[in-house]
Amino acid sequence: MISACPTTRPSSNSIAPAPATLGWPRPILSPWNVAVLRERHKALAHCLKLIDRKQKLHDLEMLDVGCGNGLFINEMIGMGIDPGRVCGLDLFQDRIDSARSHVPASVTLQRADFLTIRPEAKYNLICLCTTLSSIPEDGARVKFLKHTRQHLKAGGFLLIYDFDRSRSWSKSVFVKPITTDVIATESATRLLWRARVTPSFFLGHRLTRRLPWINPILFWLPPLKTHFVGLFQALKGQVVARATTKLQSQLCHGGDQ
Ligand SMILES: C[S@@+](CC[C@H](N)C(=O)[O-])C[C@H]1O[C@@H](n2cnc3c(N)ncnc32)[C@H](O)[C@@H]1O
Repeated sequence: MISACPTTRPSSNSIAPAPATLGWPRPILSPWNVAVLRERHKALAHCLKLIDRKQKLHDLEMLDVGCGNGLFINEMIGMGIDPGRVCGLDLFQDRIDSARSHVPASVTLQRADFLTIRPEAKYNLICLCTTLSSIPEDGARVKFLKHTRQHLKAGGFLLIYDFDRSRSWSKSVFVKPITTDVIATESATRLLWRARVTPSFFLGHRLTRRLPWINPILFWLPPLKTHFVGLFQALKGQVVARATTKLQSQLCHGGDQ
């Protein structure tokens, strides 16, 4: 089980301005990567602003499932999430070791299969940053989303950055995109906000190397975007029960309304 997080507080609860590298090590950033991260950062900051209106960021208990090298955690901390209330977990020890070298010492990190963790510690915010698309089977992803919901507190938030089904032009990477409709249904959440982000890496890397001036055009054209940032909120038990009753009544009456 994930151990309880210690509680240290940052001095301010407002969303901090983005640092130049967004918490990423400078050597791995090309101008294209910086532009991609900046665009995503803007969308993530918007999501945190929406959350902050309902619940102060520094009070949130956050879980990053599939945290990889921990750089996404760093980005969230940079925007006002309290590192002492963040837990990151990943299937692989080398990723946890890498995350340990990037995130503040007060972040809790654990090597574990999320699906085997019992929902004893609940979170106000769960982040899945390209974690869903790394799970190839539909059934396993549905199970993963249902499990995610069990780890969310009532009214808690689910923040997802991932491939968009209809716009995945990524030929070089193996991914299985997912729609926001499926996410909302299977995780019993409602979509609060979403944005298309990240122009096709395939086009971006090739074209911008030869034609740097084309970069802003790629970011401006929505049809070229391959990912989304989505913010979902857990439905309260009552709402789920009402929705189920309505569905049952529709089924009993042959679906006519
Ligand atoms: C594509 S990587 C993304 C890593 C990181 N979130 C990022 O954006 O850089 C997906 C990560 O999810 C992790 N993962 C997949 N299934 C998992 C599970 N059941 N429990 C924990 N981690 C999982 C993988 O080990 C991998 O590190």
